[in-house]
Amino acid sequence: MKVPYSYLLDQFANPDKILCDIREEITKKANLTLGPQVEEFEKKFAALCGAKYAVGVASGTDALFLSLKALGVGPGDEVITAPNTFIATVGAIVASGAKPVFVEIDNEQFNIDADQIEKAITPKTKALMPVHYAGSPANMAKVLEISKKHNIPVVEDACQAISAAIDEKIVGNFGSMAGFSLHPLKNLNVWGDGGLVVTNSQEHKEKLILLRNHGLKNRDEVEIFGYNSRLDTIHAIVGLNLISQAEFITNTRIKNALCIDKGLSDLKEFITIPERKKNIRHVYHLYIIRVKDRDKLLNYLIEKGVEAKVHYPIPLHLQNCSKNHGLKYKEGDFPICEQQCKEIISLPVHQHLTQEQVDFTIENVRKFYKK
Ligand SMILES: Cc1ncc(COP(=O)(O)O)c(C=O)c1O
Repeated sequence: MKVPYSYLLDQFANPDKILCDIREEITKKANLTLGPQVEEFEKKFAALCGAKYAVGVASGTDALFLSLKALGVGPGDEVITAPNTFIATVGAIVASGAKPVFVEIDNEQFNIDADQIEKAITPKTKALMPVHYAGSPANMAKVLEISKKHNIPVVEDACQAISAAIDEKIVGNFGSMAGFSLHPLKNLNVWGDGGLVVTNSQEHKEKLILLRNHGLKNRDEVEIFGYNSRLDTIHAIVGLNLISQAEFITNTRIKNALCIDKGLSDLKEFITIPERKKNIRHVYHLYIIRVKDRDKLLNYLIEKGVEAKVHYPIPLHLQNCSKNHGLKYKEGDFPICEQQCKEIISLPVHQHLTQEQVDFTIENVRKFYKK
């Protein structure tokens, strides 16, 4: 049996309706960038998040970058984030001209340790960018307390966390703005790159609409210098078709994750499963646990047909890009993060897995530990 990490080929089992909608657009109207479907999709995505506005952009990276730009972040500023995220979080900060400042993560949930944010704040700090890593919301109560105390806005990196929530408040509604990704590997995708900024501020929404399209107020008048980061109509058509499946996707991933939790829960001497808190809706973009002999387990599972992965083996403060950019970090600066990078493993959890595939995954992890 094979347990693929990605679900992409399964989703094409029945693409006819989406292809029909795309053909209709291409052959009859050809309104290919920022067509009416983009606005329709933005409204539906905002509704999914329980937020007032969503602004479609070209990628999750751009959603974060443009959010920082909407806040006026630029050269000379600092933005605080976690070192165990995908490179795009930090790439967006660097693209804005600001300096990324890393804060250690907590030992349990793999998210930024909010209790350590304050000591990283300087007069140059212009934004906090917590990441809802793997689909598990960061400690937003503490982040917002700090944000309020120091008057520093929050941009949530919600790229991995569509529909995640804390006490039923959906991520995207905690900060001034939040970036979401629609990349093919994300829980919801648009058959290509795409992203959205979610906000409850009309002012931010209007700024973002200018920023994503060269600052154009209308066809001929340019209000500010902006960027080309439009969401293509074709991608919005795919999004409109797939967004109705968002709850199914989330619930199936949660079901699979809890099933794996249960199947491995007695292997405590080999495996640490993060505490699953009742008030947290973790949406399992990634199913991550800490394991003994990680690299051996990883190779064993791959050999057995279970496509496990590691997100991410090298923390960002130790990547060459940080050194080459002049960031002064060294090994040992974030020991919890560095240790976790050696222990974490991501098991397939996607919505197209069969129960047999989930059971096969559990069975093989157990076999590796001879249990
Ligand atoms: C945590 C995180 N931030 C940002 C991004 C960037 O999203 P995109 O690939 O759509 O640019 C991703 C995904 O790739 C991500 O996982």
